Amino acid sequence: MTEQRKMLVTSALPYANGSIHLGHMVETIQTDIWVRFQKLRGHNCIYVCADDAHGTAIMLRAEQLGLTPEQQIANIQAEHEADFNDFLIEFDNYHSTHSEENKELSSHIYKKLQDNGHIDTRTVTQAYDPEKQLFLADRYVKGTCPKCKTPDQYGDNCEHCSATYSPVELINPVSVISGATPIAKDSDHYFFTLPDFTDFLKDWTRAGHLQDEVANKLAEWLDSGLQQWDISRDAPYFGFEIPGHPGKYFYVWLDAPIGYMASFKNLCDKTDGLNFDDYWAKDSKHELYHFIGKDIINFHALFWPAMLNDSGFRTPTKVCVHGFLTVDGKKMSKSRGTFINARTYLEHLKPEYLRYYYATKLTNSVDDLDLNLDDFISKVNSDLVGKVVNIASRTAKFVAKAGGKLSGSIANEELWNKFQAADSRIAEAYENREFSKAMREIMALADAANEYIAEQAPWSLAKEDGNEQKVLDICTMGVNCFKALMTYLKPVLPATAEAAELFLNTKLSWSTPVSFLGDHEINKFKPLMTRVESDKVQAMVDASKEDVAEAAAESSPKTWLAKEPVANEIEFDEFAKIDLRVALIANAEHVEGANKLLRLTLDLGGETRNVFAGIKGAYQPEDLIGKKTIMVANLKPRKMKFGLSEGMVLAAGPGGKDLFILEPHEGAEPGMRVM
Ligand code: MSP
Ligand code: ZN
Repeated sequence: MTEQRKMLVTSALPYANGSIHLGHMVETIQTDIWVRFQKLRGHNCIYVCADDAHGTAIMLRAEQLGLTPEQQIANIQAEHEADFNDFLIEFDNYHSTHSEENKELSSHIYKKLQDNGHIDTRTVTQAYDPEKQLFLADRYVKGTCPKCKTPDQYGDNCEHCSATYSPVELINPVSVISGATPIAKDSDHYFFTLPDFTDFLKDWTRAGHLQDEVANKLAEWLDSGLQQWDISRDAPYFGFEIPGHPGKYFYVWLDAPIGYMASFKNLCDKTDGLNFDDYWAKDSKHELYHFIGKDIINFHALFWPAMLNDSGFRTPTKVCVHGFLTVDGKKMSKSRGTFINARTYLEHLKPEYLRYYYATKLTNSVDDLDLNLDDFISKVNSDLVGKVVNIASRTAKFVAKAGGKLSGSIANEELWNKFQAADSRIAEAYENREFSKAMREIMALADAANEYIAEQAPWSLAKEDGNEQKVLDICTMGVNCFKALMTYLKPVLPATAEAAELFLNTKLSWSTPVSFLGDHEINKFKPLMTRVESDKVQAMVDASKEDVAEAAAESSPKTWLAKEPVANEIEFDEFAKIDLRVALIANAEHVEGANKLLRLTLDLGGETRNVFAGIKGAYQPEDLIGKKTIMVANLKPRKMKFGLSEGMVLAAGPGGKDLFILEPHEGAEPGMRVM
């Protein structure tokens, strides 16, 4: 056995303002496989993560839902942890950036940077919402593109003509949050003087901590000159106040990577013998790995090592960057149903299918990887069910017939040598994050084992008397091939490996090369894995389309639209197509499993309609019954997770509890047309 390594591994901290989707799962599955591999090899490997809980988006989202940010982040964290758990992601600790540990560590690190003269102060002019009294990040300002005059563009660039500009250049800018016209306002900001670390980073990025393609990309930035990094935000902001500067907060990205340390600190405090400094002190001998997506390289390979180095901590052994997920060759798309939430997947399919499929796609490059849904079905079925599990199901019954005990001899030395020779190649591929190579090696072995069994045809031999020992020897060989394959697949398929351990009546360990199991009692074989059914995949895609429809129904109307200059004029004909009617709310009730929807029964003066409305935050069902409102009566019916929605009611307001259905005056009777 090789010497035991001590390693600390992280995945990027998911934002606490949204659900986990299959894009995030690329990263957690990649990391989890790598960590499980290290543990299986006998190393001491600790995997920590956390929710990234700070920032304006989370603050506004909580407000919209009528919750405190603390309640909102607690809800989301519970959801995230359940999703990861059900995908068999085995964290040693899952924490939050909004924690005592993180607050202390962030202050500590900031003070070090300041003591070392690496914090600068400057006045910054920014768009400001005078109504909300809030500085506005670029994405919170919208207006007409100054170049091509397309309305409704974000504050930093135009989706239509790709022009880039600052929010103050927009024509008729509005605050997305309140609808007010932003003003330009000054405030003092704090900067981390990143250019002071140019030489350090030029060395660090070339010292084996990064993939070559990542280092090359960074070299471009390093050569064109680094900028100071703005690390402060003004109140109101959900985050940590900067020590000594009331009203100023750390920008979310300052304390986010410190969240890795905080989660580990939290683990140390509840684990005997685990020492924070052993892993984070400048002279630490242990290994530190961060797994991240290619969109957040600058934070992890420039800002973070510079901060760590300056504040007296060690820097990462490696920052491992992966590419982005596409589905069926295209960016994940809400309308195509390929923006798939982790939970939606889990409601239809087994986690190990995706773990295996991603493993067959993952390399150590930053290239994007594609989830092709047809390929997904055929790979899982042909590789896992057709090749690997099949070996056990074809041979186990003959071992059982012979009394359940494997024979003591290796029937085909050549085949077993082939397995032995691949053992270290597979391990090396895992170690280098070449999972797709490892899967190819494993499936080539599975092919060889299946060929052997097909040639020997124990089922034919068993028909004649006197072949008992030969049949047992062949099937012992088959069971051992299966054992080796399941050991190699254990990091990817932990649940199936566990079931295989039960069948094989032994632990699958890989701290030394896989050994041959002879003269050993095994248990009754039970089917280990079922095929992926294509209708389940289709159901998942359909459900993802519904998730989007529900999110749209639940998202609040934007109050600012009323104040925005009239942009997209429509013809009277187009307006006249909308059949607005007075409707009586005959019944209203909660919808099980929906966060924001109520089910309304609307009476149109004889005809009734079933409509799902995203107004649960604002109304108790019993308060709605008997009210009259306005509905769109000719909206095409839409199938949702909860049933068919046959129209839409009109409501105004920023959302959450501030949402108001429109009520017509007395005299307007159900069924009357509104013009
Ligand atoms: N909160 C930051 C990370 C802070 S780390 C100190 C963040 N969060 S995120 O939720 O947007 O993304 C979390 C991780 O998921 C990132 O590494 C990101 O690259 C990855 N992915 C998000 N969408 C992805 C795909 N579509 N495909 C692959 N990975 C993706 O960034
Ligand atoms: Zn434009």
